[in-house]
Amino acid sequence: MSSPTSHTADLVVFGGTGDLSMRKLLPALFHSDLEGRLAPETRIVAMSRGGLTDADFRGKVDAEVRAAVPDDGVAWQRFLGRLHHVSVDVGGEDKSGWSTVVRMLAGHEDRDRVFYLASPPMTFGPFCRELQEAGLVTPRSRVVLEKPLGRDLVSAQRINDEVGEIFDERQIFRIDHYLGKETVQNLLVLRFANAFLEPIWNSLWIDHVQITAAETVGTPGRRGYYDHAGALRDMVQNHLLQLLTLVAMEPPARNDRESIRDEKVKVLQSLRPIVGSEVDRFTVRGQYTGEGDMPSYLDEPASTPTTEASRRVETFTAIRAEVKNWRWAGVPFYLRTGKRMPYRRSEIVIQFKDVPHSIFPGGTPNRLVLRLQPEEGIELHIMAKEPGAGETMLKPVPLSLSFGKTFTARVPEAYERLLTDVLAGNPTLFMRRDEVEAAWRWIDPILAAWESSAELPEPYPAGTTGPAGAHELLGRSGRAWHEEEA
Ligand code: BG6
Repeated sequence: MSSPTSHTADLVVFGGTGDLSMRKLLPALFHSDLEGRLAPETRIVAMSRGGLTDADFRGKVDAEVRAAVPDDGVAWQRFLGRLHHVSVDVGGEDKSGWSTVVRMLAGHEDRDRVFYLASPPMTFGPFCRELQEAGLVTPRSRVVLEKPLGRDLVSAQRINDEVGEIFDERQIFRIDHYLGKETVQNLLVLRFANAFLEPIWNSLWIDHVQITAAETVGTPGRRGYYDHAGALRDMVQNHLLQLLTLVAMEPPARNDRESIRDEKVKVLQSLRPIVGSEVDRFTVRGQYTGEGDMPSYLDEPASTPTTEASRRVETFTAIRAEVKNWRWAGVPFYLRTGKRMPYRRSEIVIQFKDVPHSIFPGGTPNRLVLRLQPEEGIELHIMAKEPGAGETMLKPVPLSLSFGKTFTARVPEAYERLLTDVLAGNPTLFMRRDEVEAAWRWIDPILAAWESSAELPEPYPAGTTGPAGAHELLGRSGRAWHEEEA
């Protein structure tokens, strides 16, 4: 089902010629255009230091993006016609670029103005200040902030304060692209539009939850960013904790902009802090070593030299988290993410408890698997009898919903959904300030303990499922990670 066409907007993308823009934002905007969700007059203005003309920028997009989208000559030419480029030196002395933006937007104050900051977080505050000094912030303006939002609680608060001086909270859209994924939204529908799950969605029935985001890619060319991020900041503080909140939240009163986010914040605030010596017990960090033709993290091609930070950074982490409330008391939430794992797979596994009394040999507890990628779908593993006249033999079999096979419509990319929501002014799938800060509040003590530890991350060979410690984390309570053939 396609959403209605949005208001006419000027979408200004700061970092508009960068990797995110080329790989995600522009293809998503093209799909929106193709499906009639962009108003005819909507313009897309890329801002960078690049010194490109509109024609240069259109040529670049034609060369780099066209192959990634459906080939439709007319629609593509119309899309290219929406694109503009302005060179602006944010934080620099030369303000002439801003005058060009002012001229370009003048007379269009009645349009929605969306400033998308696809740039490092330290630029968010200066960018917003310069926007305001240039007189570009109108009541119809919104600002979109890409993750990572800071590198700890203090820096996140500073960014939120700086941006908050210029924009109201209702105008700030903090993006976490995991929230735009179909299965993630489906999790809410599954939980709150079906009667049978809610009564068993608690510690009486659920043994534990696993949330995994495994990637096969390493970090070639990303050392500069990754050395100072690591898996905890890059994936857990945002994507994995967001998934955890959706699994653990109470039913919201309404599907509106604040009700869902109110419930998510309560989950983050209920996370039991992991502090001091507990960090060693409940968290694991690893770094991949070379294997076959896959280089080690330290040997990945990089534009910055290997430093002490490179040796200390985690490319894998696993954490045993707990949500301290009535519903989830005693149910561990295991979070795991890593680069250079044997498969690319993001999934949530709800592991139910065993039957109270088994009359058949060989049964295993039920399991619900929500697969975000590669193939989006939901599987409920139930026990069934293997056909045969002999002794009753049990076998776990999946009741399975594949979105690809069940729904013929194209599954939109996460950014497509989120950009559509930004243009429609709907912030439900975006992180509110208190959410981001509550997540950092829980992450900070783990970071502090790792940073003060003399130990380096545990090595794991590239192409494997992480260091031994990750398996021990579950193994010591008799549990195991949900692994399947890739
Ligand atoms: C990004 C991280 O937010 O998410 C990347 O910065 C990671 O390191 C990516 O590769 C994973 O996203 P997806 O949608 O491919 O799971």
